[in-house]
Amino acid sequence: MTATTADSTSRAARILSRPATINGLTVPNRIAMAPMTRQFSPGGIPGADVASYYSRRAAAGVGLIVTEGTYVGHDSAGQSDRIPRFHGEEQLAGWAKVAADVHAAGGTIVPQLWHIGMVREQGQPPYADAPAVGPSGLRLDGTEGTGKAMTQRDVDEVIGAFAEAAAAAERIGFDGVELHGAHGYLIDQFLWAGTNRRTDVYGGDPVARAKFAEEIVAAVRETVSPSFPVIFRYSQWKQEAYSAKLAETPEELEAILAPLAAAGVDAFHASTRRYWVPEFDGSDLNLAGWTKKLTGKPVITVGSVGLDGDFIKAFQGEGSQVKGIDDLLDRLETEEVDLIAVGRALLQDPQWAAKVLGDRFEELKPYDVAALQSLS
Ligand SMILES: Cc1cc2nc3c(=O)[nH]c(=O)nc-3n(C[C@H](O)[C@H](O)[C@H](O)COP(=O)(O)O)c2cc1C
Repeated sequence: MTATTADSTSRAARILSRPATINGLTVPNRIAMAPMTRQFSPGGIPGADVASYYSRRAAAGVGLIVTEGTYVGHDSAGQSDRIPRFHGEEQLAGWAKVAADVHAAGGTIVPQLWHIGMVREQGQPPYADAPAVGPSGLRLDGTEGTGKAMTQRDVDEVIGAFAEAAAAAERIGFDGVELHGAHGYLIDQFLWAGTNRRTDVYGGDPVARAKFAEEIVAAVRETVSPSFPVIFRYSQWKQEAYSAKLAETPEELEAILAPLAAAGVDAFHASTRRYWVPEFDGSDLNLAGWTKKLTGKPVITVGSVGLDGDFIKAFQGEGSQVKGIDDLLDRLETEEVDLIAVGRALLQDPQWAAKVLGDRFEELKPYDVAALQSLS
């Protein structure tokens, strides 16, 4: 890691230990766990090992856990029977235990609600016969594949599935929800012109492309209590299209985000690969910083926190070395961003938050892809 002085490490504890507010929720500090798919939930049911995986990190000081993406109750939502579902009696009972254990450990937790859209390969469980669906039946590379363009009925069903999942989250004891609008999955397929060629109300300019997301937010907002936090995660980049952009300018970004904020988003989670990269020319603000400036909402930043290489390296089988976070603390101190989400560093080391909050930076570990193999 880069050299860290005693002064700057105590600064870390001071800055990160402050509580944060998202609507009715008080997060005990500024450290969030980024959502990370693990595929350790056979039958879509998160078991005792998943509960202890999350609660171990809460006990070590993670203030807000955003769970791995979990499928909403729509036949085409997912493609793996080992990824947890957020519908069904046993699945929700598993999730209720996860939430209770995280609370007992002193943390807060929101599920990340997910529909993968055209990323789905047909013929996979849990609903092998369901087609892949998306705004225009296009895959992220622009090809048609075997999916179908969603009808208004499909749109209504998916919106209903997100609202039902959010209601379930509140009912079984979660502290809020995060809607997965990032990385080229269904909601993002509507947001992005590359996959949305619709000529109805859901396609066209950025405001029209945001309408599907806006309707999901509004339906969720209507279903849950007014104080129940709704977080919206989005990204410029897409799976298999890392240089793709939703918005080329702050004005385009505002056109997309303003209707979502108005529909009831309480905080945005702006997913980037490296938090230190400025988003638009002429300003040092990163994507989260721009999001806060444009919407006035609290923001979570993410991307290589505590590590020197981004997560694409991880998918290519490469590890990353430890990197200092002084520049990130600056962004928190100036209130450019409100929370930091930590992905691989926390996957590697359940004690990451305890070490950072306890000024034990010298104990941080590099990220090794072997960490993906277990739920330690
Ligand atoms: C193994 C793995 C699984 C991931 N799964 C998800 C996911 O389910 N939902 C999501 O929004 N992002 C997912 N991501 C992206 C992370 O949330 C995060 O944005 C990314 O890893 C960058 O943070 P990091 O550099 O701290 O790892 C995943 C990343 C990894 C490494």
